[in-house]
Formats: sequence, structure tokens, C-alpha cells
Amino acid sequence: MERLEAALEKAREKRREAGVDEKAILGPESRVPVLKSEWSDLTEIKITSRVARNNRITAISGNPLAGPYDMLRSRALHIMHEHGWKRLAVTSPTVGCGKTTIAANLALSFARQQDLKIILFDFDLRRPSLHKVFAHRTDHSLSDVIDGKVSVADHFVRYGENLMLGLNAKAAKNPSELLQSQRTKEFLAAIEASYKPDIMMFDMPPMLVSDDNVGFLVNVDCGLLVGAADGTTVKQLDLCEKELADLTNVLGVVLNKCRYSDSELGYDYEAEPY
Ligand SMILES: Nc1ncnc2c1ncn2[C@@H]1O[C@H](COP(=O)(O)OP(=O)(O)OP(=O)(O)O)[C@@H](O)[C@H]1O
Ligand SMILES: [Mg+2]
Repeated sequence: MERLEAALEKAREKRREAGVDEKAILGPESRVPVLKSEWSDLTEIKITSRVARNNRITAISGNPLAGPYDMLRSRALHIMHEHGWKRLAVTSPTVGCGKTTIAANLALSFARQQDLKIILFDFDLRRPSLHKVFAHRTDHSLSDVIDGKVSVADHFVRYGENLMLGLNAKAAKNPSELLQSQRTKEFLAAIEASYKPDIMMFDMPPMLVSDDNVGFLVNVDCGLLVGAADGTTVKQLDLCEKELADLTNVLGVVLNKCRYSDSELGYDYEAEPY
């Protein structure tokens, strides 16, 4: 725990150095509001085996299909602890590379470590889909919470004891402006101060489709770039990795949707991810 605290302080320090610490973000007059923040008060959702099967959720429990996500989790945790990074964005060059699937599974894999508290946000505000992956219908969206129309406690749900989910009912009206707004910074600072997560994960839109990542990534410590073996070109990956490195720290690049043969897994096994 002491190591974690030290890592968290390092992350804050790094954001301070980058000029994005809470005070700098919020301005001298602003205060981070204290939210009602009992994890146990949040509505609990379950994932049925049918939903898990249909939506490629494999990391709920330790099993061979969770293996690649667990490996990604361990590597990510190692690097994040080492650098004191706490906020992780998941993005890709183009649509459909598997960002949302990977973000959901990685969050579930993190959550199997009971000493970690994770908040996963659906910040693909143009085409939100995390609610579909978790098969949870919600009445509101993160834009409503950021605009103060609904409270975090009423909107966020939890899976198990230590994974909190911020989902969307529909697309936001002004995603780009919202993602780079002061009130989004304040919202993140407030939720971080109140719920005290160890890791905050953000499922983002693709980088080559809009400027949403450009405006938002100043709020995170690192980014994971997901490419699809069946669709992303090396040029796209290269371009986006450079752009990501300009915007935040690159945690790594994941090549998803690979097909390879492995005698143990069976010929033509479809990897998830790698
Ligand atoms: N490793 C994989 N192998 C095969 N299909 C996959 C894999 N990972 C994800 N998919 C499927 O690919 C589709 C797109 O996945 P997902 O929605 O996670 O991608 P995305 O990058 O978030 O897309 P978008 O850009 O639209 O948000 C989904 O149908 C998902 O089930
Ligand atoms: Mg997605």
C-alpha cells in the first residue's frame, strides 16, 4: 500500500509538472467538490455467461482466454507503478480495432486484484458502446454527470467490489468541446478525490477520426494504442504512436485480432489481444 501511495503521489507530481495538477486545472478559486463516495452504495451489475460469451468478455475469472489480458495487466501495472501513472486511455488509429473490448477486459483483469480500485469511463462520447459490452441499459450519460444533471452516485454502477463503470445512454451533443472542457477536468478531479481509485481507465474514440483524443489526453498519464491485425496499417500505427507520444506517455501498443496457429490452442486460434 505504501508503494501504491508513493506511486500515486508521483503521478500527481508528474501532472503538476506537466501543468495539469488539480489546482492548475481548477484555478485558484476552485475547490474539488467532495462527492458522496461509498462504493457499496453504487448499483451492482452482473455479467451473465451469455453476455460474456457474446461480447467477448473473457477476463472475469482466471482462465486460458483471460491469459493475454492478465499478461497485459501485469505489464501495464508494472510500468504504471514504476512511473507513478494512474490514468490510462485506450485508443486506436481507426474504428473497430477492439479498444472497448480490451478496455473492458483489462479493467476486469485489474479488478481481479482485490487490492486495486478501478474506474472505467466510456469517453467515446460519439459512439459509446461500453454499456453494450456490459449489457447495462442506463438512463443517463457521462455528459449529464459532467453537467451536474445527475450525480456520480446515481449514475455510476459497479461490478463486484472494486470496479466502477461510467457508461453512456447515448452520444453526447458536443463531444470534442466536452472532452477538453474545464468541467470535465473538474469532474475527474472530484471523482478521483472522492472515490480514491488506484486506476482510472478511459475508453476513447479512434485517433484518426476526430480531435477528441487531442483535447482530452492532457488529462491522462498514459495511453495504450490498439491496432487490428486485420485492418490497421503499419503507417497508421506509426503515425498514431507518434501523435500519442506527443499527447501523453505511450504505455504500449497492442496488436489485436491476430490469427495464428498454436498446437495447444488449436489451429487458427484467434488471439485476444496480441
Ligand atoms: N481479438 C478479437 N478478435 C475478433 N474480434 C474481436 C476481437 N476484439 C474485438 N473484436 C470484435 O471487434 C468488434 C469491434 O470491437 P470493439 O467495439 O471493442 O472495437 P473498438 O475499437 O472499440 O470500436 P469503435 O472504434 O467502434 O469504438 C466487436 O464486434 C468485437 O467483438
Ligand atoms: Mg469502442
